[in-house]
Amino acid sequence: MMSASSLITFDLALQAVAAAAWIGAGVLALRGRPSWWALAPALALTVARAGSVALLWGQGWWFAQEKVTVTLPLALAAAVIAVVFRRSGAGALTAGYAALTGLGVTFLSGYPATPSVGLIAVAIVAGAGLVTWQAVGGSPLRSLGIGTAVAGLAGIGLAFLPPSAYDFGGGPDAHMHGMTMAGASAPAGGTVRRYTLTARKATITLPSGRRFQAWTFDGTAPGPAITATVGDTVEVTLRNADIEPGVTLHWHGYDVPNAEDGVPGLTQKAVPPGGSFVYRFTADQAGTYWYHTHEVSDEGVRLGLYGTFVVTPRPAAGVDLTVPAHTFGGELVTGAAPPAAPPGTPVRLRLVNTDSVTRRFALAGTPYKIIAVDGRDLHGPGTVTGASLRLPAGGRYDLAFTMPAGPVALYADGRPTAVRFGRGLPPYQDAPDLDLTTYGTAEATPFGLRSRFDRRFTLVLDRGLALVDGIPQYAQTVNGLGYPRIPAQVVREGDLVMFTVVNRSLDTHPWHLHGHHVLVLSKDGRAPTGAPLWLDTFEVRPGEVWQVGFRADNPGMWMNHCHNLAHADQGMMLHLMYAPDMP
Ligand code: C2O
Ligand code: CU
Repeated sequence: MMSASSLITFDLALQAVAAAAWIGAGVLALRGRPSWWALAPALALTVARAGSVALLWGQGWWFAQEKVTVTLPLALAAAVIAVVFRRSGAGALTAGYAALTGLGVTFLSGYPATPSVGLIAVAIVAGAGLVTWQAVGGSPLRSLGIGTAVAGLAGIGLAFLPPSAYDFGGGPDAHMHGMTMAGASAPAGGTVRRYTLTARKATITLPSGRRFQAWTFDGTAPGPAITATVGDTVEVTLRNADIEPGVTLHWHGYDVPNAEDGVPGLTQKAVPPGGSFVYRFTADQAGTYWYHTHEVSDEGVRLGLYGTFVVTPRPAAGVDLTVPAHTFGGELVTGAAPPAAPPGTPVRLRLVNTDSVTRRFALAGTPYKIIAVDGRDLHGPGTVTGASLRLPAGGRYDLAFTMPAGPVALYADGRPTAVRFGRGLPPYQDAPDLDLTTYGTAEATPFGLRSRFDRRFTLVLDRGLALVDGIPQYAQTVNGLGYPRIPAQVVREGDLVMFTVVNRSLDTHPWHLHGHHVLVLSKDGRAPTGAPLWLDTFEVRPGEVWQVGFRADNPGMWMNHCHNLAHADQGMMLHLMYAPDMP
């Protein structure tokens, strides 16, 4: 059984080979040597595509839609023309154009195929076919030519229709004037944890001794570690010294009131050089989180505007080490070196992936448990030995072990990191990836795959031609569109919401919804059998389909985006917003 991603590649390859075969047959015919020997393979490849498209359809309609409605019918129709007019090379060449256009439709447009795309594709193939027909001495087919031009123009015209601004996810519409925003800061309580972070450029020295021109908080990257005990009030004053594009603090994974979320243009203005902003919220969730700028976040985070944020229920016993893994100019840095841990010491490692790509971690030298993911404790975690842990961009794993007599070391992508305990280096062995959906033990959840969802949204992730901030780009798209043209998802407070996230592309997309943790309902059609997974960032790999659910319980206007921040920059970003209450 081929996976969806290999089927996607297989179908593209079939199409490319079919195009070459048709064009070869056409050229032979033009040279006066039309033959079934040349036509037959091209024909066979085209018919075989019906099979590969059917298989893709079997993986989900999103993977096959534009092929079923546009490119395969076009390819089959052109193949019939090629057979009928096999003496003139124009027929086979037209079939070649159809195959190439099919590739173009998939690469540039993808899901959903619109009438506009269908008309343009037909016009391209018919137009090129007619031109070829006349060039090889065929009689002019004026009315067909006019029809083709009309179809093409209509298709282009339709492409200019603006997409709708809102997606109600199948739930009731709302009058979208005004919006529910949680404006006020959370009330204070407990101890107030005050921090002041100043964003400024600085040259930092990496562990290798290399110097790096960073953007920092307080001159260090990562910035100061922020910690609190559950119940405290966290109050952070952000100042900007000299970061020209501006800076904000987003509390990644921390479900803060909307006004504290640090999204420029949505919850606040970016803090300009010389400016400041105060964030205040209650530390009401324990766990491992991080903060980062959300203004020009791709560049800003990459250059160092991030730090860790850890909330504990009570002072920890033993060693509790936060390990933010970040790449500075190709060098992976894992933060401060661990303190000494004599045998018998309980150790907790809080792994944070602050890069934009997945890291594979392995802990060598000891069995361990994954006790929390994305700040949420896992139910009944089992003992892990020698597995690899894929940590998505933005995600966190908390590992726990008891220090053994021998050494323990954390490896990242097969290389030892600075996180080492004891003397010497335990050897690394590449091991299969741990499947979190089968890890730990199941327990009851407030809702599940079979619950009645008030709204269901589908997000098909791909690449394609789209406007991003008004500029046409080969963008990272959601449902064929780029930011800010992707319709905002509208929910009402209290709704039970499902996202179906489909990755049609050949890239990995770590999906991140602000302000909420989502429960994984299924991955590729299978419900998790292990501990319930409440995530704020989940890794959707090529060809995967994830269904996640959440209760809309944190009103406001939230970002919903890919945490490969370069992808977000290239358009893979939208809003989820709470509709105001109906009068
Ligand atoms: Cu950590 Cu909108 O991001
Ligand atoms: Cu992405």
